[in-house]
Amino acid sequence: MKKILVTGALGQIGTELTTKLRQVYGNTNVISSDIHEYDENQDGLYETIDVTNEKKIYEVANKYQVDTIIHLAALLSARAEASPQLAWNLNMNGLLNALEAAKELQVKLFVPSSIATFGLTTPLDQTPQITVQRPTTMYGINKLAGELLCDYYHLRYGLDTRGIRLPGLISYAAPPGGGTTDYAVEMYYEAVKKQTYTSFIGENTHMDMMYMPDALDAIIQMMEADGNRLKYRNAYNISAVSAAPEDFAKSIQTYIPEFTLQYEVDPVRQQIAESWPNSLDYTAAMEDWGFQPTYNLDMMTKDMLDNLRIKL
Ligand code: SER
Repeated sequence: MKKILVTGALGQIGTELTTKLRQVYGNTNVISSDIHEYDENQDGLYETIDVTNEKKIYEVANKYQVDTIIHLAALLSARAEASPQLAWNLNMNGLLNALEAAKELQVKLFVPSSIATFGLTTPLDQTPQITVQRPTTMYGINKLAGELLCDYYHLRYGLDTRGIRLPGLISYAAPPGGGTTDYAVEMYYEAVKKQTYTSFIGENTHMDMMYMPDALDAIIQMMEADGNRLKYRNAYNISAVSAAPEDFAKSIQTYIPEFTLQYEVDPVRQQIAESWPNSLDYTAAMEDWGFQPTYNLDMMTKDMLDNLRIKL
């Protein structure tokens, strides 16, 4: 990667990925974009892109002569359940426009997939790299179709498409955009603000989670990997931590002993969570491109709490 366009750059991943990419590849070599008019938080190049506009991604990518598009713009699981048609339009047509732009310009394309591509008929413990994928959420259906569509553009047009199945991401810089795993991020915020949290996900509901620095490293490492080694180029399982709400609470209590956790389960998000894996097998990502997460639950908790104390 030398010159990179990021869509959805003001979201949870984009905010931090853009900063990191600018550190690694140089300030003027990363163009951030989002649907919003301007970006007051980032001091690099910024363009307004509505990814559902058929030509806009192409125009901006062409204007800056980028060699890579990182397409992050998407509606996450809980918001997609509230507005399925909006989700389809943004997640699918947005992706198609990104693929077409990448094809026209013959540039590399990164599209994140998700643990949401699995469903109740998938083995939920140590979910294999290749397994049954019958998601029951609109977001999961979009992401699975996205994996296949990226495979198609690779096979049919020789496009260098790449992607990883991201778990729930924990971070303090920007809030997540309406996902199911967001409870964990909220718990850290509330732990610092009020020393108590009411979880919308029930006890003993395990999902895959990862601290943002590991996710950013994984994205860059995967994009820089030798393409010939990428057997599952658009859909690598990755994960770092398999955890339920009470695991986060216990970890927080080692730093904030008075912290308490209650439950008020939201049936919609609980149902989504139960349809997703408890833990992923990510051996293929380790073997094919050297994926290796750094942060375990307690390291993540310490760093989150330290940073949120400064932020809040
Ligand atoms: N974190 C996302 C969500 O909860 C999963 O990709 O929607």
